[in-house]
Amino acid sequence: MRIILLGGPGAGKGTQAGFIKEHFKIPQISTGDMLRAHVKQGTELGKAAKKIMDEGGLVSDDIIIGMVKARIDAEDCQGGFLFDGFPRTIAQADALKESGIFVDAVVEIDVPDAEIVKRMSGRRVHPASGRSYHVVFNPPREEGKDDVTGEALIQRDDDREETVKARLAVYHEQTEPLIGYYSTWAEAGGEGAPKYLKVHGIGSVEEIRDRILEGLGAL
Ligand code: AP5
Ligand code: ZN
Repeated sequence: MRIILLGGPGAGKGTQAGFIKEHFKIPQISTGDMLRAHVKQGTELGKAAKKIMDEGGLVSDDIIIGMVKARIDAEDCQGGFLFDGFPRTIAQADALKESGIFVDAVVEIDVPDAEIVKRMSGRRVHPASGRSYHVVFNPPREEGKDDVTGEALIQRDDDREETVKARLAVYHEQTEPLIGYYSTWAEAGGEGAPKYLKVHGIGSVEEIRDRILEGLGAL
């Protein structure tokens, strides 16, 4: 199974990716997590990406496309994969299509901007795994600690209010056009056409999980 998870910043892509990858036994490919790993390691790419991410902008299509292509060549992606946060521009989607890399389903998690701002301010993450929590809506079992490893949770640098606003603007301008791109392709059918699933993203984490898995025919 090959799946694209589409949605604004803080829509719950990372949270729901945890359930989808477990269910279908496929690796999660989060371009955001990959970039954050570069930042942590202090690579050249990481240094350049950090500035862009802190401003809420997008890293260049060429870099992202190269990174993703190298990742999906790996052994563990041969049975399928889950894209989280990729593609994010029409150019990235076109690059996939032109490479003959098709997906079975595109899942859009639809959440209004006002809700997103609330979610971001309470988010805490486990940097090593990318697992996300929320101090009120999805708290860890022990305050400030990851459920699986017990390691400390942190706040992401790009979750400051000003950066969140910039990320939302970039999402509406550059990523939202992908909704039309994939839903039109799904309706038209033909080679490589995916199934398009729009999921209402307000509700409990478990309710949204069930909407997604049901829509994918997995429940
Ligand atoms: P990325 O890491 O992809 O960030 P994003 O798309 O902005 O999405 P987030 O990770 O912020 O949110 P999410 O949807 O995963 O939500 P989560 O599950 O954590 O990208 C970061 C940056 O990297 C970009 O800004 C860009 O600069 C760069 N980048 C990455 N990919 C790129 C690409 N392809 N091209 C170019 N640049 C790229 O949930 C959010 C919060 O809400 C959590 O606290 C969670 O616990 C809570 N929550 C989840 N579900 C619910 C619920 N149902 N109810 C209440 N709270 C909930
Ligand atoms: Zn995420």
